[in-house]
Amino acid sequence: MSNQIERFQDPGLPEHVHRNADVDPRAAKRAEQQVAILFLLSAAGTVLTIASYIYVKSSTFVYLPVLGRTDLQQLLLGIGLTAATLFIGLGAIQWAKKLMPDEEVIAERHEFRSEEVDREELVSTFKERADASGIGRRSLIKRTLGLALGLVGLSPLVLLRDTGPMPGEYLNKTDWAAGTRLLRDPDGQPILASDIEVGAVTQVLPELPAGVERTLENTGKDAVLLLRLRPEDFNLDPERLSWTHEGIIAFSKICTHMGCAVALYEQQTHHLLCPCHQSTFDVTRAAKVIFGPAARPLPQLAITVDADGHLIAKQPFTVPVGPSFWERNSSNG
Ligand code: FES
Repeated sequence: MSNQIERFQDPGLPEHVHRNADVDPRAAKRAEQQVAILFLLSAAGTVLTIASYIYVKSSTFVYLPVLGRTDLQQLLLGIGLTAATLFIGLGAIQWAKKLMPDEEVIAERHEFRSEEVDREELVSTFKERADASGIGRRSLIKRTLGLALGLVGLSPLVLLRDTGPMPGEYLNKTDWAAGTRLLRDPDGQPILASDIEVGAVTQVLPELPAGVERTLENTGKDAVLLLRLRPEDFNLDPERLSWTHEGIIAFSKICTHMGCAVALYEQQTHHLLCPCHQSTFDVTRAAKVIFGPAARPLPQLAITVDADGHLIAKQPFTVPVGPSFWERNSSNG
């Protein structure tokens, strides 16, 4: 038996198989119509997006199986945008697969390296120019230039600090303080604990001290969801239980993932859902994350009642509200 390894043959290219649309004009016509239909569906998606943005009020809700109470405008925007992008992509794929030229082309590789003479010329030109600039001789210039170039990149880094306050310290401050009354949003009325029924969920804002204006910025940070469960539904440690009042519990409304408004409450399961990336928080366990990308629970606001029976905050939030992208300690909450 010979030790020589047998050379294997170049298998070459398999025989080219023509597509239906290449050989049958009727198939080509059909493919063309399919692509056109997909592009028309994409256009319809865009029309739906724009029309629902203009004509559907953002406060219109519909009840859907699985999703429950759903903002109609958001739903239509989602469907429209999905259709617009999906069908344009499908149309392009269909076009490329069925109609675009289907020839196999062999491109011979060529030498990437420059000619030796060009390479030598480049090196000598570089040396010549470097000598002419005198950088080799002028060591003072060389060093100070190195220093200047090294430092110039620092300015943008320092200026980044100006893009806003550090999120941790910014989100740590809300208008909630011990004794702050909870006001119903949007009518601004104080809330009697006895007015809230089991199963109810409502958005509240803090009563601001005289002279402090309610702005979009502080409303965003201060928004709180107030829910009432049966007290026996809770599964809380004694401290967190003492932050509730007769089954009423309050959480920051800002999702701890990326700051969307946590807007959906499933009464049967006691789950709060964030519509952006489906983080799900269990109300009975102090808004513990049970699904989704959020890294920590929704901050709980300790509440009680004043002498008139109105709900008030017992203390400010004990942890920053909102997204925790700057924070490594995911157990903080
Ligand atoms: S912002 Fe709520 S899950 Fe992403």
